[in-house]
Amino acid sequence: MQKRKILVTSALPYANGSIHLGHLLEAIQTDIYVRFQKAIGNECYYFCADDTHGTPVMLAAKKEGITPEKLVERIKEEHYTDLVSFYILYDNYHSTNTPENKYYSEDIYNKLKSKNHISEREIEQSYCNYDKMFLPDRFIKGTCPKCSTKDQYGDGCESCGSTYSPKDLIDSKCVICNNTPTLKKSKHLFFKLADFEVQLKKWMEEGNHIDSGVKKKLSEWFLEGLQEWDISRDGPYFGFQIPGEIDKYFYVWLDAPIGYMASSKNYFDRVDKEKFDEFWKSKEYEIVHFIGKDILYFHALFWPAMLMGADYNTPSRVNVHGFLMVNGEKMSKSRGTFIKGETYRKYLDPEHYRFYLASKLNDSMEDLDLNFSDFILKINSDLIGNFVNIFSRVSTSILDKLDRRLGNINSEGEVLINECISMRDEIQKYYDSRNYSKAIREIMKLSDSINKYVNDNAPWNLIKQDKEKAREVVTNTLNAGKILAIYLKPVLPMITERIFRILDIKNTSFLDINEKIENKVIGLYEFLSVRVDEKAVEKMIEENKVSDIEKKEEKTPINENGLIKIEDLSKVELRVGLIIEALDVVGADKLVNVKVDLGEKGIKNVFAGIKSSYKPEELKGMSVVVVANLEPRKMKFGISEAMLLAVGKDDTLSLFIPHRGANPGDLLK
Ligand code: 2FM
Ligand code: ZN
Repeated sequence: MQKRKILVTSALPYANGSIHLGHLLEAIQTDIYVRFQKAIGNECYYFCADDTHGTPVMLAAKKEGITPEKLVERIKEEHYTDLVSFYILYDNYHSTNTPENKYYSEDIYNKLKSKNHISEREIEQSYCNYDKMFLPDRFIKGTCPKCSTKDQYGDGCESCGSTYSPKDLIDSKCVICNNTPTLKKSKHLFFKLADFEVQLKKWMEEGNHIDSGVKKKLSEWFLEGLQEWDISRDGPYFGFQIPGEIDKYFYVWLDAPIGYMASSKNYFDRVDKEKFDEFWKSKEYEIVHFIGKDILYFHALFWPAMLMGADYNTPSRVNVHGFLMVNGEKMSKSRGTFIKGETYRKYLDPEHYRFYLASKLNDSMEDLDLNFSDFILKINSDLIGNFVNIFSRVSTSILDKLDRRLGNINSEGEVLINECISMRDEIQKYYDSRNYSKAIREIMKLSDSINKYVNDNAPWNLIKQDKEKAREVVTNTLNAGKILAIYLKPVLPMITERIFRILDIKNTSFLDINEKIENKVIGLYEFLSVRVDEKAVEKMIEENKVSDIEKKEEKTPINENGLIKIEDLSKVELRVGLIIEALDVVGADKLVNVKVDLGEKGIKNVFAGIKSSYKPEELKGMSVVVVANLEPRKMKFGISEAMLLAVGKDDTLSLFIPHRGANPGDLLK
């Protein structure tokens, strides 16, 4: 089959505010799609960026006393860190405040202007004489003219739901300085969207660019009539100056989607210069956007029209998802359900959120509810109790007793494996059409079959009578399980990577599902994933309820006397660990790579800086004290999942070694 060439984007997070679980819904939905396309051998790229311009960013920077450029640089780093901690794998994460974005914003504008798609006229807007700036609707507050509720924004009332212009607000005030705004006229530039009505309708009807629900929404907008779009803002404004104008800037929403192009340009300039034009100008390449339903107008009307007017490729596909709800309601700060990525990660595993979302996502615009009881159930029974269980039950002690050597797949194994392989096309179809929930359902059914096979054959009993028969059962099970791991790789990149490491296999794409693992010694068991603790969910929600002020005070657990509270100490889980393997790390002066057995907590992989006083061979069999609940850290040589406690340095460095009857996993009190 011909390889598809796909450029994928998700909406650019705005550089004012942190990444929350809503952003992550979209990033994860997109990432699964991209990882899947790569896994079936397509040429696929994932581009994103921070959306940096506009008044909110300008004022936030002013408040901090720094330049907007500095602010957006810092926020971009924060956003990127949060996003990749949920294993979002971008080919490039750029910014809209870049030379590439300036270039294409000017290029597209100039082309639109030269073809007479830009008009200009004077408009009257709210202006603050004190701050010397025009005020966007959200920077004006006053009393609702319809229902008299106080403290409402200039664009609409949150109490009665009516929308109006800021001029209609009663007793309006500038939110920056609290003075009453006046009205002032100025010239604005407009993009004549209606010029593209025929082309846009054609785009909507042809080529499976959007789903039927989206089409319905667009048809309503066509009926209402396409209005001219105001694309200019007066200074002071953080953005790109409009060529040929004085003190006028592109409205942030003009240059934001151009950020998709800019991010790809920045990448292809480094990697393959031809590719940019191929994607944005030649027809055999696809451009696929993932967005939320709130920004549909921009992506299904303004953006394709801008591209049409400037002779670039229009989107091949705009995939639209609904909003994230938490426990059945809109995310709310007071209920503790407005959850930032950073907070989630402190208490829960990012991969669990990926799995949960995948088990619920479909191709509709319906909202998706993150219900925490359901979350706990899905992770504990489906992910851990079903899928992970396949591996933990046959590749721990049973396999140890078989010297970790697999045998041959027998006829029962063939049946099981064929059942898994037979679902491949269907599962691929579900991933490709964003019906991830259906893919997960099918994979879980297969997982049920594998677990049933293990139950029916009970290798833990079999091993006592017939070691070789038990070896066959384990071999069959792991070969079938491997296929499911391949299917789940787009959703669970880390857990499946550990599985592939245990199985000691490198070929893990969908194209490799027919490969068998037979007659070989496989790797040591690695801890795959842990059940969700209900208390961790409660704690996370509690932390979210704490007000911002309290949060600042809480930031460091050390008080003014340099002391910490006992509760802070109890957050650290110290356990006895038995070193079962210790290896030299080639290329590292100080590191030894050890595997520590923490009993019921599983085996953790650790990079410890202890080479100066311990040789790998003397570490094996040693009991040590381990910080067992440290967030895994990606280091140059691999992932370190815990920390060994030691004192001293260089040749006097010594590990903490319990000297009496300690068992792996014992908790230090
Ligand atoms: O809605 C938002 O948060 C915007 N920052 C999304 C921009 S998407 C694209 F157009 F850049
Ligand atoms: Zn003001």
